[in-house]
Amino acid sequence: MINSQSGKAGWKSPSNIALVKYWGKKGKQIPANPSLSFTLKNCVTETHCRYQYDKGLKGPQLSYSFNSKHNTSVEDKILSYFQSLVPEMPFLANCRFEVDSHNNFPHAAGIASSASSMSALSLCLVSIEEAVTGICHPEYEFKKRASYLARLGSGSACRSVFGGFSLWGQSFVEGSSDQFAIPLEIKSGNIFNHLQDTILVVDEGEKQVSSRAGHGLMNGHPFAGQRFIQANENLQEIIKALEEEDIDKFIGIVESEALALHAMMMTSKPSFILMKPGTIEIINKIRQFRKESGIPVCFTLDAGPNVHLIYPYQRKSEVNDFVVSELLVNCARNYYINDETGQGPEKLISL
Ligand code: PMV
Repeated sequence: MINSQSGKAGWKSPSNIALVKYWGKKGKQIPANPSLSFTLKNCVTETHCRYQYDKGLKGPQLSYSFNSKHNTSVEDKILSYFQSLVPEMPFLANCRFEVDSHNNFPHAAGIASSASSMSALSLCLVSIEEAVTGICHPEYEFKKRASYLARLGSGSACRSVFGGFSLWGQSFVEGSSDQFAIPLEIKSGNIFNHLQDTILVVDEGEKQVSSRAGHGLMNGHPFAGQRFIQANENLQEIIKALEEEDIDKFIGIVESEALALHAMMMTSKPSFILMKPGTIEIINKIRQFRKESGIPVCFTLDAGPNVHLIYPYQRKSEVNDFVVSELLVNCARNYYINDETGQGPEKLISL
């Protein structure tokens, strides 16, 4: 029975930054190793999704706009994503959708926009599923379902549906799964509770390697087996460091994860060097600053040249002075973004 014939769902969802990296997958978006991230606050996607049920349709229909412009290339990708979800959500085959998505950060910033956009869209889909079927989930089940659907669109997006730290992938942590992410709670008052992320935009150019191609490079990679073992060990160690508030251990793992990700790309076939001279200069300056000042600040990298500066909330003002006085010269057009740990997505429209 169809409970609602038409309506509109809206969600605002943030990006996230991985501390233990997901790089390599198998089957249908199953990660080769578990990953851990924290959800950001300021870099978000707002998605509105209007639907109209029509039992005469033989598959989902979609019109997709990005930043208020009709975008056919994203439309094609989202439509095939919707088609792939029909076995999970049969009502999709009888719906016409109008999706309108806005990012509040520029594409060129090198922030994982697929994480915020796919999580926002998945949350809209679960809201619509509830309206159409009339079956409502308790809050945690709702998020779990959205995380599961987001994963099928873009792996790391599954970690954006919860605030704070999120863990995705089967691991020693109870309840963890390859199918969806789970929140990782740490005690209130813990220094890691409000981590900051200043994104230093070294290069605004297009991505050299797509995520899909990047993950593919791990198939048959000579170091893949060892890398997956390392990621599991690092997950165990970083969770211990979070619980024990051991910031030196935390810094060691975060930086080693970033460099391991790039080492994988540098040693794959074909090989990619995604760091730019400015990336290396910033890394050296961060290490020097940490040594001289004793301020616990470290870096991580995604699959690109831009640097994420990670540090506790308590050291915000000193780190900001360091960014402005020493690191801005290495940023394209002096461009950087201050972000921090967020509480997770927000519903914009109630169905
Ligand atoms: O979610 P994807 O397929 O775009 O992969 C993201 C991979 C990294 O950003 C490099 C690491 C991660 O865990 O987020």
